[in-house]
Formats: sequence, structure tokens, C-alpha cells
Amino acid sequence: MNEKERIEFLRKELADHNHSYYVLDTPSISDFEFDKLLTELQGLENKNPDLFDANSPTQRVGGNVLEAFKTVKHKYRMLSLGNTYSAEDLHDFDTRLRKLTDDDFDYVCELKYDGVSISLTYENGELKQALTRGDGTQGDDVTENVKTIKSIPLKLKGNYPDRFEIRGEIFLPIAGLENMNEVRIEQGLEPYANPRNTASGSLKLLDTKEVANRPLDCYLYYLLGDNLPSNNHYNNLQKAKEWGFKIPSEIEKYSTIDDVLRFINSWDEKRHDLPYEIDGIVIKINNIDLQEEMGFTAKSPRWAISYKFKAEQVSTTLNEITYQVGRTGAITPVANLAPVQLAGTTVKRASLHNADQIAKLDIREGDKVFVEKGGEIIPKVVGVELKDRDLFSQPTAYISKCPSCTTDLVRKEGDAKHYCPNNESCPPQIKGKFEHFISRKAMNIDGLGGETIELLIQEGLISEISDLYLLKKEDVLPLDRIAEKSADNLLLGIEASKKIPFERVLFGLGIRYVGETVAKILAKHFKTIDTLFTADIETLVAVDEIGDKIAESVVLYFSKQKNIDLVAALKNSELQFVSAIEDTIKSEHLKGMKIVVSGVFEKYSRADLKKMIEEHGGKNVGSISKSTTFVLAGENMGPSKKEKAESLGIPLVNENKFLAKIS
Ligand code: IVH
Repeated sequence: MNEKERIEFLRKELADHNHSYYVLDTPSISDFEFDKLLTELQGLENKNPDLFDANSPTQRVGGNVLEAFKTVKHKYRMLSLGNTYSAEDLHDFDTRLRKLTDDDFDYVCELKYDGVSISLTYENGELKQALTRGDGTQGDDVTENVKTIKSIPLKLKGNYPDRFEIRGEIFLPIAGLENMNEVRIEQGLEPYANPRNTASGSLKLLDTKEVANRPLDCYLYYLLGDNLPSNNHYNNLQKAKEWGFKIPSEIEKYSTIDDVLRFINSWDEKRHDLPYEIDGIVIKINNIDLQEEMGFTAKSPRWAISYKFKAEQVSTTLNEITYQVGRTGAITPVANLAPVQLAGTTVKRASLHNADQIAKLDIREGDKVFVEKGGEIIPKVVGVELKDRDLFSQPTAYISKCPSCTTDLVRKEGDAKHYCPNNESCPPQIKGKFEHFISRKAMNIDGLGGETIELLIQEGLISEISDLYLLKKEDVLPLDRIAEKSADNLLLGIEASKKIPFERVLFGLGIRYVGETVAKILAKHFKTIDTLFTADIETLVAVDEIGDKIAESVVLYFSKQKNIDLVAALKNSELQFVSAIEDTIKSEHLKGMKIVVSGVFEKYSRADLKKMIEEHGGKNVGSISKSTTFVLAGENMGPSKKEKAESLGIPLVNENKFLAKIS
């Protein structure tokens, strides 16, 4: 065996031992022997730099110190899952899905790992890239860190597709966190609070050697790609196991939602015996054609959902109820608590949601209350220990006037919350609007923070967001705490924000229900504020992913004179009101057509074909109905679909005919 052959042999041998130890949990060699082989390989690689391999087992020990992570766009968006909390919610989910299809289907149930989601790309059997979720559209490239996680294969075995993505969860086993904490305590350092945050923090470390020392692990649960081995999720995962991935064995297929519920209930008890934390169960439709047919909402797939276990609870004393006014005038009652430890953090405040919630639970100041921390960041009060209640305690009288400006509060029918209607001059509302406008995801104005905003409002220098653009240095310099340098920074930040793209300006306006995603959709579709301005409800709801609630809110916003004036003033100050989002429309050959894509194709992937449909003015729809224009049909189209198309007289168009249509 020459050195090249020996290097290849050792790489394969060490990768196999890694797989046995970290994936199969059945060590095939002693640690001592392993280290000996690794040292030998390292020596040979040092001697033969031309044989370098970025995915050699020697690369798992880390060593590089990165400056920052590159942001990379996801090929397929990384979405989250809708949550359910009860059997009733799950029955609703089941009913919803059965309305979307006539076909029978199976559910796959998996554990919901409480860690950090990761998307791994493999090309020709080698790990190419690892991205975090980020904002779902783009994430951080953490490939170097991920390579140090021993249960993630760097090279695959068997018969894998040329290119695919596999997604999963990086987590820290409970014992791993305990070991790390023992060391930290010995060193006089504060122990880490919980496994999930520590896993997430570990992945963000820039020193890969440090990451290699963290006992991170990874389960994979979702495959994406054009040439997956099968059109069912369960079988694909079993194949991925053969390629070397750590695939959970706690996974089951069921045909009824009652069986799903039995799986959930059994894990609600057993979960405390697992060596890692889970916070629920994920339920997915097994058939991938059906998944694609059902598609996604703006945030999550329709074909999957998570069931969240009841969160951890503690009891403590509710000292005082105070009230917060948000930027829309919404009032939120807040419980000020005697500090208490909950799921690894100290909790002092909790949300009480609204007046109904306080009345329903009969929550009173001085009560001993139960506090819970679910998936959301802010904990909530979920009940009262009535037997501990003080004899003289009085029911909570909900406020009727704004705690800030004393305007009478209003509550519209159907709204859960009380509102302060004084949008024009209620201080926290004005401040909230400014804070939203300047926030990172909106105009990202550097050099301007909450305190300065308050000061500028107090001094009467700003009352509408458009006033920011009229500020001059001589206005701000005389203010307390604003020195020459901060005044310059402030004005530079404001000036720079004029370049912020239209979709973020639109988000910054703070139109109710127009969050980041919706603002992007509107900007892309309507292109300019003027077209959006004249759109009626019908035009708005015709846009994919825009529903009645959003449409009504947009129309209401642009019907108010003060908003019209505001936009005019901002336009005058040269903010961006025309979308720079690339226009991808190539032709109108498919204009007005509703097209169902089904089956497997020769030249293009299904995702590419769907993109082409949109580029040529058509609309992708999930299931066949009377209004379908045609079905773009590939090989292996489901028989029930074929039947349906035939019975409704919907034409089937093959790939070549389709390509001819759009050329
Ligand atoms: S599937 C499009 N399966 O939960 C569906 N997610 O709340 C992709 N998670 O972002 C997700 N265990 O980080 C899936 N067995 C599992 C999961 C799982 C944990 C996480 C994942 C996801 C989040 C959604």
C-alpha cells in the first residue's frame, strides 16, 4: 500500500468507526486505537498536502478561527411549523387536510427535538454546506462548525442522489450540558441555563476548535431534492439512514388521527426518560406528492404540524398588575411577579393577555399564581391558587382609561384587546411608531434609540415619522445628551435610510397585519406605493397569501387622510416607494391559467416547472377542480388524479408540450 492508498484506507476506516460510535451507538474500536489511527492519518496528510480533503476525518477537530459567518440564501425556504396544543386542534388539522384531498393518506409521527434547525447540502456524497435557519430565506453558513459534529457524515455511503438537502436539529444531550456545567462550576463560571440555548450559542462560536469540544449531536428529519429515492417521506428517511445519517428510530406511520394521539400521549410520559429534550411531536403527511399538492402558507407547510407538550409550570406571587400601551394603542396587562426560576431563567414579569383572560381566571393582585413558559419568549400566567387567596382580596377592576394619556379606552366587537384611540398624541403610541419605523428590520436607523426618540418628541421636534427627515443639526445639537458626534451619526443614519428598499419602508409604516413577509409580498406584486394605494379589497385578496384581514387593513390605512399625507411627505424626502425586487415575469403566455403540476419529469424538476409557470403569468394550484386550466403531467402521476382530470375534462399536458407553450 503506498501513502496515497493508506490515506484513503484510513479516511474510510475512521469514518466507519465514527459512524459506529456516534450514529449507531455501538463502538467498534477503543478510543486509544482510534486516536492512534487518526494521528497516523494526520501525519500522512501533513506529508502529502496535495492530497488534502476538506471532508477528511482529521477536519473534525476544528482549528480555524472564523471572522464572521457568510449569509447565504436558502435554495428552499426554511419554514417553521404551525402549533397545536390539544386533541381538538389536531382533529381540526385532520379535517382541514381531508378537505384538501380526496386521496387516502398516512401520517408520520416524529419527536420534536428542541435544538437548532440546520440544513445540510450534499453533492456527490460529500457535505458541501451547512446553513442555519436565519430568517427562513437566508441563513448563516456554519459548515466549518458543523463538520466538528461527529454524528453528521462528511461522506456518504451507498446509493445517494447527486445533490440533495437534508434538514434536522442540532442539539445538546442533557448529559452533555451537565458535563460542560461541571467544568464551568469548577472554573468559577456561571453554568449554562438550558440545552437549547447552549446548542445555539455553540453553533455561533467563531473558534471551530471550541465548537469541536462541545458534545453536540444531530438528528435529521427532512429531505429535499429533485431525485429523492421515493415519493414517501418515511422511506426516504430510511434510505438516508443507509447513507450514514442519524435518523430517529422513534418514528411511526399511522392512518388515523386517533392513532397519532395515542403516539403523542405515550411520549408525553416517556419524554422525561429521553437523554435529550423534546418539546412536542411533529405530524407530517407521508406522501410527498400530496405534500406538494397542499403546499405552504406564508410561514409553514399545510401538510405538517407540531403538537406542543404542556410547558413547565411554577407558582409565585403576583405583586401588581400594570398596563402597557403598544404602538397601535393596544393595551396589554402585565403581571409583576415575585422573581422565580422557570425553565432555566428568572421570571419577573408575565403576560396577562387581556381583560377577558384576567376575568376568566379571576386573577387578582396578591394572588399565588401559576406561571408557564411555552414556546414563546414571554411567560404567561395560567391559573390561580384559590385556596391561598387573601380573605379581603377584591376582583381586578380592569382600567377604563389609558394609563398614559387618560383617554377613555375602547373595545370593538370581536377584538380581544382594549385600545387607546388617541393615536395622534398618546405618548407610548407615538414612541412605539417611531421605534418600529427605525427598527433593524425596517429602516434600520443607526444612531437613533428609544431615549433619543423620546427626547425629540418631548421637545416637539418630531410628531410624525416624516418629521425625522426634516431634522437639522441645529435642531438636535441644543438637546441634552446630544453631542456633536451623536448629532452627526443621527443625521447620517437618517440620510442612509433613504436607500432602504420599498418593502422595508412599507413594513416600517406599521400598517396592521403588514409584517415583514406580507410587506415583501405586497411590494413584489404591486411594485409601487401608488398601485398599492389604489388597490381595492378584491385586487388585494387575489394576490397569493393575502387574505381578507390584511386586505381590509391596507385599504383602511390608505383611506385615511393623515396616512396619505404621511406617504406624500416621505416621498418628498425621497424614500424608496418603488420596488427594486427583480421582475421575473418573462411572458404572459400562461396569463390567467390555473395549472396543477403532477408526477416526475425528465428535463426539469417540479420546483423549476412551477417557477416557470409563475414567470409566464400562470398560477400554480394544488388540486384539480373545474377551474383548472390544465394538468402539467409527468411520469407516475397518481391514478386518482388522472381519473379526476379525465372526469372533469381537464387536459393533460406533457413536459415537451408545456415547454413549447411558453417558448
Ligand atoms: S420538520 C417544513 N421535524 O421544529 C417542515 N421539524 O417549529 C420542516 N423540529 O424549524 C420541519 N423536530 O427546527 C421537523 N421531527 C421534526 C422536528 C422539527 C424539531 C423543529 C425544526 C423546525 C421547528 C418548527
